[in-house]
Amino acid sequence: MSEQKHSHPSSPLPADDLPLWQPGEDSTLECVQVREETHDVKTFVFRAEPPRRFHYQPGQFLTLELEIDGEAVNRCYTLSSTPTRPDRVSITVKRIPGGKVSGWLHEQLRPGQRINVLGPSGEFTCARHAASPYLFLSAGSGITPLMSMTRALTDLSTGADIVFIHSARSPRDIIFRKELALLSASHATFTQAIICENRAGEPEWPGFIGRLDAARLQGMVPDLLARQVFCCGPAPYMASVRALLQECGFDMNRYHEESFNFAELNAAPPDEVVESASPSEEGTGFNVHFAKMGDDLSVAPGQTVLAAALAKGMRLPASCTRGVCGTCKTRLLEGKVDMKHEGGIRQREVDQGYFLPCCSKPLTDLVLDR
Ligand SMILES: Cc1cc2nc3c(=O)[nH]c(=O)nc-3n(C[C@H](O)[C@H](O)[C@H](O)COP(=O)(O)OP(=O)(O)OC[C@H]3O[C@@H](n4cnc5c(N)ncnc54)[C@H](O)[C@@H]3O)c2cc1C
Ligand code: FES
Repeated sequence: MSEQKHSHPSSPLPADDLPLWQPGEDSTLECVQVREETHDVKTFVFRAEPPRRFHYQPGQFLTLELEIDGEAVNRCYTLSSTPTRPDRVSITVKRIPGGKVSGWLHEQLRPGQRINVLGPSGEFTCARHAASPYLFLSAGSGITPLMSMTRALTDLSTGADIVFIHSARSPRDIIFRKELALLSASHATFTQAIICENRAGEPEWPGFIGRLDAARLQGMVPDLLARQVFCCGPAPYMASVRALLQECGFDMNRYHEESFNFAELNAAPPDEVVESASPSEEGTGFNVHFAKMGDDLSVAPGQTVLAAALAKGMRLPASCTRGVCGTCKTRLLEGKVDMKHEGGIRQREVDQGYFLPCCSKPLTDLVLDR
């Protein structure tokens, strides 16, 4: 009986035959809840508008496309929610002092407000790697992708063997503290440990104090060498994790990490950036004209527009530099490009003449609306 497939018009529950969220077409989320996780971390829960069911891999992220003080700004946030609960998604955001977007989200975003997003995208997920046993290592807000993976694996009662070690500054900074404790109490194959740098605000804190080191790691995870390791946190934390895993003789082919800072990811610039930007004397490169700036740029064969611009010292908006985040999106007024993006632009935007300079090589001379 078809009417049983739909929720009643006044039901608070979503209809069960909703179409799936299409990353290239759907883009609007409506905030339905804001939760305080710690003194400087909030979770924002969203539904799709129009209503959709989400499908993604745990560990993937969204790019938020916001306009703050009249300026377009893009930032990526991992989905802390689990794809096993497909009617809502959430992001969990740590407020960075002076941070433009994290500050705006904490201060301004309220239930009922809508935002534009791109994605989900990203490849940091347990879904793409061999099965358990897993070791999840996180620090600070780096907990979000590992929480999504944990929620998915436990929600499905997969029986996955997970050891989750999270590092926080102090007990008051532990994100998802109660939920981690509850999961470990209710899933025999899920073990969690939390290490705090100090006991500030909670002198009776019974957990580990200090930092993760090789002896502590081997004590907590005796079968460490048999596990797949997923790690996310600030760059110095991940560097120390890599060093101590190597010290323990861990096979780094089974080590996977996510950085929240594209600048760190791109610290070693792609070859094109460091190469000379000038086209060959035979004139095999292309000219790019910036219509608003009135500037011209020579792009060498095989070079992306962004790489050529950076090499010339021009300042163009960019973040990931690999076609993921959409930050560099620009309207192409004339010419053709070969664009190899990773989800940072929608087909309808391409149809409207937009492209991503970070992952596009000119096929002709170009005129850009910049
Ligand atoms: C793939 C990906 C996933 C991410 N997932 C999350 C997530 O789940 N939760 C989350 O809270 N953030 C996440 N981030 C980080 C997020 O995208 C923003 O970078 C962060 O919120 C800061 O943005 P902002 O606009 O508030 O600060 P900005 O205005 O960009 O920066 C303000 C100042 O803070 C510094 N700064 C920027 N980021 C940090 C940081 N993390 N720690 C310390 N100083 C910093 C900057 O160098 C600058 O000086 C993710 C980033 C990436 C690339
Ligand atoms: S800089 Fe991220 S898509 Fe171009």
